[in-house]
Amino acid sequence: MKHKEILELLNKMTIEEKIGQMVQITGDVFLSEDTNSVLTGPLKNLHLSKEKIYHVGSVLNIIGAEKVKKVQDEYLSKSRLKIPLLFMDDIINGYKIAFPIPIAQGCSWNTKAIKEMTEISSMESSIAGANVNFSPMVDLSRDARWGRVMESIGGEDPLLGEIYARTMVKAYQGKNLFEVGKMASCVKHIAAYGAVEAGRDYNTVDMSEREFRQYYLPAYKAAIEAGAEMLMTSFNILNGIPSTVNKWLIQEVIRKELGFKGIVISDYGAVEETITHGYSANETEAAKNAITAGIDIDMMSGIYANHLKDLCLQNQEIENKVNESVLRILTLKNKLGLFENPYGNTNEEKEKTYIMNPINLEKAKKLTQETFVLLKNKNHVLPLQKSKKIALIGPYIDNIGITGSWSMFSDRTKNGTILDIFKEKMGNQVIYAKGCEILRQEEINKILSADGSPIVHVENERQKEQDMIASAMQTAKKADVILLALGEHYKQSGEACSRSNIALPENQIQLINELYTLSKPMILILFNGRPIELNTIEPKLDAILEVWFPGTTGAKAITEMILGEENPSGKLTMSFPQNVGQCPVYYNHYNTGRPHHDNLRYLSRYQDIPTESFYPFGYGLSYCDFKYTELYLNNHKMNKNETITVTIKIENQSDYAGYEVIQLYIQDLYGSVVRPVKELKAFKKEYFKPHEIKYIHFNIDMHMLKFWNEKLELVAESGEFKAFVGGDSVNVLEDRFEFVDN
Ligand code: BGC
Repeated sequence: MKHKEILELLNKMTIEEKIGQMVQITGDVFLSEDTNSVLTGPLKNLHLSKEKIYHVGSVLNIIGAEKVKKVQDEYLSKSRLKIPLLFMDDIINGYKIAFPIPIAQGCSWNTKAIKEMTEISSMESSIAGANVNFSPMVDLSRDARWGRVMESIGGEDPLLGEIYARTMVKAYQGKNLFEVGKMASCVKHIAAYGAVEAGRDYNTVDMSEREFRQYYLPAYKAAIEAGAEMLMTSFNILNGIPSTVNKWLIQEVIRKELGFKGIVISDYGAVEETITHGYSANETEAAKNAITAGIDIDMMSGIYANHLKDLCLQNQEIENKVNESVLRILTLKNKLGLFENPYGNTNEEKEKTYIMNPINLEKAKKLTQETFVLLKNKNHVLPLQKSKKIALIGPYIDNIGITGSWSMFSDRTKNGTILDIFKEKMGNQVIYAKGCEILRQEEINKILSADGSPIVHVENERQKEQDMIASAMQTAKKADVILLALGEHYKQSGEACSRSNIALPENQIQLINELYTLSKPMILILFNGRPIELNTIEPKLDAILEVWFPGTTGAKAITEMILGEENPSGKLTMSFPQNVGQCPVYYNHYNTGRPHHDNLRYLSRYQDIPTESFYPFGYGLSYCDFKYTELYLNNHKMNKNETITVTIKIENQSDYAGYEVIQLYIQDLYGSVVRPVKELKAFKKEYFKPHEIKYIHFNIDMHMLKFWNEKLELVAESGEFKAFVGGDSVNVLEDRFEFVDN
């Protein structure tokens, strides 16, 4: 459709039809024979009449070509102007193929890998009918207590967030949204949702504008610059005002300053929640606040549907705002080609051949392997020799539930288990005992009863625990090495999964303690969605392989890694704390006036734990041994038109081939405002043959030195800097240079 035709269509619409476009509901209602009877569940609270339901502009989490077509047909059959529905979904880490959870994907430090995973997800889900994906989530995340760190693609680093945001938006959207395999990207959650106080989900966010601009805004900005069609607001308040009704945020920063032209959608029920926040006095005010702030679509609340019309009748400015929003929504529908073909890229034939196809599964396995982080490998206990007798122990050994909490659409039939795959490769050389459950039932009850699930009672649970441990001990005694697969329950990380204890569950720790008494090499494969507190168990383990929730091909990917058919190359994107009391702990922090350097009393430190994180940002081992030497700067002074080339010699001192992520950090030693002790400025993922030596180069330019100064201007100030290069944020070589702003 031409722009002129869209305007004509807008002119034909009644006010009710316009407001309907700005409302999003769950789509099941259109699948039922009897629409009246389906107005139950979350929809019931929206108090929508049947007429209003048939005016809505979009639905969420309906997917599958047949289903999508059915809903679209039903909707259009009753629609006066035949404006097709938009289908929006949460394809967070893949559709039928579950990829590793986003925090894991980020640990690949490989934009090509992230692009490929995103493209496969985009193809699978768009041919199944999704027009918009509520992804990527680019909230900077520093606090491991927050359950949603598992969704954060860049972890605690603004540069990674920026690079990955750009990569993913482009991979979803391509050049044209109506091309097969492409869909609109809805970037979330604006803004600063990752900074919720005490890591408690939906909680307060209060931060200086400088902090916001320096760390939290860059990823959203990069997504907008990459052409993201949509943004979702966050549940939190930002400096006293809920994001969803925050005019400064949406109008001044997002629209005016960053030039965002697309659609802003609220998060689930968030417009109504502005009342509970204590910002809007009632529903009418909530509608007014949201529309004036710039919310184009009200997701899952009845506020727009029930109150916007009266506001329009009273106030021309609000009606103008409605027209602007509807125009944006119709424009997106047009970009997706829905006026020509209401099914968009939905393709039942392709759905049959493309989804879960073996080529993509093989690719997925390779990509998954890039997300694993080897945290410890004492005396090179890994990779394991096939000649060894291995005791496979733990609740994740014979378990297909390794896809994480957002993979509700994934096809688990192809998941396989670690047990199956080890057996295939090693037959009777592996023996198995479950050893423990992931969580005690009483803890599962606590989590699930909040979802309304019935409480399950287990008789003699502690006795059963002892029996399982005893049987695991018997199995382990027969083996040369113990391979444990432990971790969080998938319901312990994700939305509404904040935790004040981020250690492994107590029953799992008990199992480790018992097995440790056997004095056999013990390796942990760790499943989790957040940095885990490992300080008490780490000394008992010879190796730790962090695999997060690795998805459909996880079991195969892990087995190959453990047996040395592949070599780990992932690096952490979030620091692991010594214990939960250190949260939030992140590498790019400021100094204090009393940094901790020795054992003196009045220094900035804890009495009971080290100040440093347990595993730092950027950290991750390989089966290779990389040695960094000869850091060389070709110049020690530069001006704004010059660059300095940093060179480092890296030697792979092993018989293995593998990848290493080489990281460049910079510190601005003195500024008009203080600057962090280190900031990631560039990185390269390089392949090394056995014993290969490479010289790696980075160029430092003025843009890398910029920051938000005292007057909130983005500038590079003259002065002294340090450049650091290393394989993580702590083990680095360093040199100084000077920048002169002329
Ligand atoms: C989450 C969003 C998600 C939306 C729709 C909300 O609860 O915060 O990230 O996209 O639901 O499912």
